Amino acid sequence: MAEAWVTLATNDSYSVGALTLAASLRRVNTTRQLVCVITEGVGEGMLNCLKQKFDHVIKVEELDSNDAANLKLLDRHDLGVTFTKIRCWTLTQFTKCVFLDADVLVLSHCDELFNRDELSAAPDAGWPDCFNSGVFVFKPSLETYQSILQYAKENGSFDGGDQGLLNSYFNDWSTKDIRKHLPFTYNMVASATYSYLPAYKKFGQNVKIVHFIGATKPWLVSFDANGEPQIGTTEQHTRNHLQLWWQIFSNEVKPQLETSSAFVQSHQSYQFMSCVMSPAYTSPPEPPALPVDTRAAWESGSPDYANTASFNNIMKKMEDTLSTKDN
Ligand code: UDP
Ligand code: GLC
Ligand code: MN
Repeated sequence: MAEAWVTLATNDSYSVGALTLAASLRRVNTTRQLVCVITEGVGEGMLNCLKQKFDHVIKVEELDSNDAANLKLLDRHDLGVTFTKIRCWTLTQFTKCVFLDADVLVLSHCDELFNRDELSAAPDAGWPDCFNSGVFVFKPSLETYQSILQYAKENGSFDGGDQGLLNSYFNDWSTKDIRKHLPFTYNMVASATYSYLPAYKKFGQNVKIVHFIGATKPWLVSFDANGEPQIGTTEQHTRNHLQLWWQIFSNEVKPQLETSSAFVQSHQSYQFMSCVMSPAYTSPPEPPALPVDTRAAWESGSPDYANTASFNNIMKKMEDTLSTKDN
């Protein structure tokens, strides 16, 4: 029976996240199918890129405040588009799925999530009696789909997006069955852990999925030639996770985007993606910090995987950060 990871992208910007997410799943050798649900907001060139990286790209109709299902959200239409996530319940060609937001990164093999039942999810860092809807296990079913839509029509969503709706619909999540509580390590909010650093110190090395929640998506961040994110003061592990996103993006996604016809033809539309433009396009040249990882190697898509650019090295850097805090 087919099982799948499912993500959603309603435009080119989130598609960059989806492509990097797909690459992160491939590198940990998942045995499950990769599905990207899209809407008409995704351009032709980007669609071709998605088709190369995902097993299935499935177009659905955008569900937002124009839809009868959530007319009550008219004044929140920017958030309303995440209602499109509900369409994932229509993927009945799969027996079980794990939904992942396009702004998450998978750090290690976690196919064991498919052993969980609907609706399994991790607590939301902002309100832990609610689950965060960036990572959840679900079972496609037209009956459930219709039922959630009906619920949305009658009750709307308390946060204007899918998370409020799904938490109201699956309202016994916090009390009924502890097996449906995924560990936080399956949806670790990259930017919120500063509030509980001792827990990160103890459990951080077990993190399997990182979620870049909030407005600063990794693809909107500029990175220098060494992959250092050009952002203000933040926890070192947040910087490390951003750097890891950039490393996977630079090797697996950026070369593909640069050769895509969409990139060549409508270069302008990619300006908003800082990650695509940097460092080669926006930073003045400077010598690489480390001799083994030349700028040219990064740009040609062949960084020194065995040394400073390796996944293991970045992971080690994170571990070193953790052990430094022990001293
Ligand atoms: N999303 C999308 N287009 C949008 C906004 C959101 O495709 O314009 C999808 C995408 O998969 C994204 C998810 O909905 O990851 C939830 O939105 P986001 O991650 O921005 O919310 P956050 O996790 O930051 O609250
Ligand atoms: C949350 C979730 C996201 C969801 C959004 C809107 O913060 O991380 O997945 O789409 O809220 O409900
Ligand atoms: Mn998200």
